Amino acid sequence: MRHDKSAAGNDKNDETGFGGVLNGWCSMSQEKFTPLSELGDYIDRADDEMDRRAAAFFDEIKRRHTVRDFTADPVPQSVIENCIAAAGRAPSGANHQPWHFCLVGDATVKSKIRAAAEEEERAFYEGRAGDEWLEALDPLGTDANKEFLEIAPWLIAVFAQRRGGEEAGMDKKNYYINESVGIACGFLLAALHHAGLATLTHTPKPMSFLNENLGRPATEKPFLLIVTGKPVASAEIPHHSLIKKPLKDILTVF
Ligand SMILES: Cc1cc2nc3c(=O)[nH]c(=O)nc-3n(C[C@H](O)[C@H](O)[C@H](O)COP(=O)(O)O)c2cc1C
Repeated sequence: MRHDKSAAGNDKNDETGFGGVLNGWCSMSQEKFTPLSELGDYIDRADDEMDRRAAAFFDEIKRRHTVRDFTADPVPQSVIENCIAAAGRAPSGANHQPWHFCLVGDATVKSKIRAAAEEEERAFYEGRAGDEWLEALDPLGTDANKEFLEIAPWLIAVFAQRRGGEEAGMDKKNYYINESVGIACGFLLAALHHAGLATLTHTPKPMSFLNENLGRPATEKPFLLIVTGKPVASAEIPHHSLIKKPLKDILTVF
């Protein structure tokens, strides 16, 4: 049964995003709901406007490419922070938001991460990966050299938390962790692209060195290392990565 609702008002600057609607949340035992109409967040759009917006989004996201050659041009921290804030609005199992983002711009930390990543990558490319995986990677032209980890202005290490809760400091079991963190990373990549940045989703295997380098607890699993900045003018995209399945091959309508 739904009880009570407070007059929320959507104060977009409010840290929680709830404009104070959560005051008293913890002290009350009954459920509380806020009408979506009071939040003012849903905008009812006509079909033709939805069509235009969906097409415009597709057009924009089509221009996202994984880039492996970045300039050292600085990018304001505020840009990345807003993109991470957007990632933090992803849906998550039981709303536990089982993610933590470490934003690395410090040259010393970046070079430690590069050294550790290259050590793992050397072992990976020298045999740990196995022939089938190396064959799959061959068209990408990647190798153990990860210069971009020092050159790009920002690295974002994303951690998946086994335990947590809807507020910092909680210690409850988390649910659908990979799904939730994967969706948050999708939001993050889309937000960075939308802001005008190139990205590389990097996954040296294993990535446990990130816990050590960034002081994250063992209950957190490194999920992705996202490199972001601007592409060099001569950046190249592998033809292999330009092959995208057409809609007819990824969609079945019933
Ligand atoms: C989970 C995941 C891990 C990836 N790991 C790496 C990586 O370690 N190194 C790399 O160069 N690219 C990595 N990629 C990038 C893929 O190679 C790239 O997304 C794919 O070739 C398609 O290209 P596109 O992103 O330009 O569409 C990864 C992508 C994903 C989603």
